[in-house]
Amino acid sequence: MNSGLSLPARVSINDVVVRDGFQSEPNFIATESKIALIDRLSATGLSKIEITSFVSPKAVPNLRDATEVCRGVIRRPNVTFVALVPNLLGCERAMVCEINEINLVMSISESHNLANMRMSTMQSLKQFADIMALTRSTSTQINGTLATAFGCPFEGVQDQMRVLATVQAYLDLGMTSITLADTTGMANPQQVRRMADSFLARFPQVPLTMHFHNTRGMGLANVLAAATSGVRSFDASLGGLGGCPYAPGATGNICTEDTVHMLHACGVATGIDLDLLLGVARDLSSIVGHEVPGQLVRSGKSTDLHPCPASVIALQDAQVAI
Ligand code: COA
Ligand code: ZN
Repeated sequence: MNSGLSLPARVSINDVVVRDGFQSEPNFIATESKIALIDRLSATGLSKIEITSFVSPKAVPNLRDATEVCRGVIRRPNVTFVALVPNLLGCERAMVCEINEINLVMSISESHNLANMRMSTMQSLKQFADIMALTRSTSTQINGTLATAFGCPFEGVQDQMRVLATVQAYLDLGMTSITLADTTGMANPQQVRRMADSFLARFPQVPLTMHFHNTRGMGLANVLAAATSGVRSFDASLGGLGGCPYAPGATGNICTEDTVHMLHACGVATGIDLDLLLGVARDLSSIVGHEVPGQLVRSGKSTDLHPCPASVIALQDAQVAI
């Protein structure tokens, strides 16, 4: 008997639109708009939101208001507020804002780390060691992200054993949770399944998040592949906005509302009120000033039915009459 896909009963979603989504936007998005958007998102049932990054304002001008955004948002106790941090200075800035979780990011591929962080991976790890020392006696959680974990736009597919060895290096530094990021949408479901299986076999106690971009249309397929392996946490971005400014050809993350819709349709709970989320998503294009890639805002949910055409009703009536 076919029992269908083996999926977890529940997964959690971390929305990254204000960080990954807005970091490449050409026009500055007003601080008040970011704060209002985060406040609406945090009322939808999302358990985590990545609200900004404490990076160089020259590297990412759109997030130069990180401090104001962190200070302005309503802190709801059931939501973890996350900020991306590349170096010790970023950590110090984030700590002043009492962010709940710091997301440390380094690429597995040397060339992309140099392009994105202007550091070798050794230099990034040294910064992370200093950050772990600074945050050790605080309540700030530290998540470690490995960018380009499935493929690098300059170097191609990345060796899975090297990825897992770097995860071990993160854990040795004291990081408590890990994100594997497919920065430019190069991962395929087979590869994701292999990576997830290996990770969960080797680090069964370590919370794992997967971060997919839909650059080649494989984003939601990758979510399903990971979920059937037992991955229970995913990054996604409202409207499907996103992309690394230092990765050629980068495009949007998997879309939060599309992902939630798929999971709910498959019987997987997320704790998110999809109608509320869709209401927020419908306002996103006016905030950024252009169309966004998400599909659900255009199509509606699969349960939103259309009125049956009168001609069809007439035919149905005629059938009954016969
Ligand atoms: N926050 C704010 N300013 C920072 C900073 C931080 N975390 N880190 C460095 N700076 C500032 C320095 O104070 C210095 O400022 P000055 O020119 O006014 O003196 C300037 O940036 C250069 O500092 P330096 O340490 O030499 O950094 P760099 O130019 O080698 O850049 C990074 C290194 C990591 C700061 C930069 O590459 C970066 O922010 N990258 C992030 C890119 C990103 O967000 N990508 C997408 C997400 S994965
Ligand atoms: Zn990303």
